[in-house]
Amino acid sequence: MSSVMMNRPPVAIRRALLAWFRRHARPLPWRKTKDPYAVWISEVMLQQTAISTAIPYYERFLRAFPTVERLAAAPLEQVLGLWSGLGYYRRAHSLHEAAQRIANEYGGRFPRDYEAAKLLPGIGPYTASAVLSIAYGVPRAALDGNVGRVIARLLALPPSFRETGFRTALRNELERLLSRRRPGEFNQALMELGQSVCRPRAPRCHACPLRSWCAAYKEGCPERYPASRPRRAMETQYLAAAWITRDRRVDGTPIQEALLVRGLEEGLLDELWNFPGAFGRSRAEALRRLKGRSAELLPAGICWSRPAGELHHGITYRSLIVHVYPATLPAGGGGGAARWFDLSQLGNAAVSQLTRKIAAAMSGKSGAPTRFTM
Ligand code: ADE
Repeated sequence: MSSVMMNRPPVAIRRALLAWFRRHARPLPWRKTKDPYAVWISEVMLQQTAISTAIPYYERFLRAFPTVERLAAAPLEQVLGLWSGLGYYRRAHSLHEAAQRIANEYGGRFPRDYEAAKLLPGIGPYTASAVLSIAYGVPRAALDGNVGRVIARLLALPPSFRETGFRTALRNELERLLSRRRPGEFNQALMELGQSVCRPRAPRCHACPLRSWCAAYKEGCPERYPASRPRRAMETQYLAAAWITRDRRVDGTPIQEALLVRGLEEGLLDELWNFPGAFGRSRAEALRRLKGRSAELLPAGICWSRPAGELHHGITYRSLIVHVYPATLPAGGGGGAARWFDLSQLGNAAVSQLTRKIAAAMSGKSGAPTRFTM
């Protein structure tokens, strides 16, 4: 162990961190429980989603599926519907599959053993450590991006996530600091510190309980640690989407249905239902490609109209300018890869946020700041 590490008294750091957390922990909904199932759901949601976004999803998800058995028995479509808007839909698939394994192989109890937990779909070292430490008090350190930043600054670890040895050094230091009596609190305290004090930019060092041990603070440049990973630049693309609807009566009540297909394009939103769509580098290219795709996906003889409007939507690095083209099918058309959806019931259906946005705009119900000219 290097002398830098030996100079840091773990007991004092641990104490200062836990005392700070007791005073500053936010009352997040998943902190009200030690139920491993609920903790697991929260940790999977928080893997790629901000806390403020995750909270309503977490609450809705647990209302719909209060136990692992209820999740295991639910149709995948319902799980995806409740996940819609959170992105990274592989997570919802894996949760559903893991819930079935936990119900069948572990009597409905999330495994307490680290290696067994990691064998479940969607559960890697971070999630297994977080769930086991928080729910069962197993002494495992959970290393996520926020925690990594705190430790990198504490040690002034040079300089990059990509360099070999960086992660090992982080992990070693974290294991050394970990509170074996309160691992769940310790892990969450470091996460919280990274989110609210030791922020990527403009860290609030004056409010940090670890300041007197922090090597980056002593150097006077905490923001330099760790070197940030290059981000993919945003790309503007056009998307042409087909608005194909029909009016029907169900038990005497008039309803409007829209024709949706699974996935968008290029493997995007594959798990969810979308208006048939195609990307392009220009508006004209997107429309041309939409007509080509429609010839594959939908019945022949579609009649296209002028675009009904334009709206904007972001999907990961893509900044989309969406044009919606009303179209009609020949009489009796439909079926094949496409499915009709009742537009008033899109709320919990397994459809993408983009689909909801287009439906709201086309129905004149959009509160979103979109340009939509009808
Ligand atoms: N990020 C991931 N897990 C978290 C948790 N339990 N509390 C706060 N932020 C988190």
